[in-house]
Amino acid sequence: MSLRLVIALSLVAGLVLGTIVLAPVAHRLPSADGHGAWYASRAAGLVAYLFLWAALAGGLLMSSAWFDGIINRARLLAIHQSLSLAGLALALGHALVLIPDDWTRFGLLDLFVPFASYYARADAALGTLALYLFAIVTFSFWFRNAIGPVTWRWVHRASFVAYLAALWHGVRIGTDTRALPVTLLYLLTSSLVLGSLALRLTYVRPRRRPAARPPSRAAADPAG
Ligand code: HEM
Repeated sequence: MSLRLVIALSLVAGLVLGTIVLAPVAHRLPSADGHGAWYASRAAGLVAYLFLWAALAGGLLMSSAWFDGIINRARLLAIHQSLSLAGLALALGHALVLIPDDWTRFGLLDLFVPFASYYARADAALGTLALYLFAIVTFSFWFRNAIGPVTWRWVHRASFVAYLAALWHGVRIGTDTRALPVTLLYLLTSSLVLGSLALRLTYVRPRRRPAARPPSRAAADPAG
């Protein structure tokens, strides 16, 4: 399946599923009271985090041999890239939608220049840096030949730093961190990443045994 098709199908499935799940409870949701942008930013931040986490988890699966034969590698790669691109788009939307919000006074500089934010300077900067790092890692795929496999691998390792920055940013700055489902989401996703990383670093692939050679004539007939 082509990458474009995966992205299109994911978006359509997300919209359809979201509508089906929300329709029966829509009338119970709190009124946005003119702060729709703020709510939208929070929702997009959480979903962006989830998508980028899933992209990282997919990358970890691909770099290990654990799931060989269970999941097709080409398909996993297409999903991995789609999740990264969708996560990046959501993270960008999460930041940009803060500009029209009336509660806050974010401008482009606050959003995109690290440590320039008027609000929660260091924690907001981690979000900006995570965004840039994830963008570099995601787009490096198309420049793999130009930068070479060794540099590309090092660039890809930066996704852990990006993930940790996004996690710290969300936990520290988020309004919803103390809501039980969100706390559980952070705990579960971060422990899965750290656990798989520890496994990945300590797991040694079993070496293939060299094919047995036929005994030499001298060994087979010591008498000569
Ligand atoms: C990869 C990039 C990013 C990810 C994954 C991300 C993720 C998150 C998450 C999960 C939250 C918590 C939402 C909640 O508790 O409801 C959050 C909150 C927030 N983020 Fe980001 N973020 C990213 C980039 C940015 C950028 C570039 C900015 C701009 C400075 C930013 C500004 C904020 C602000 C102001 C909040 C507080 C919203 C609230 O009160 O919940 N984020 N982000």
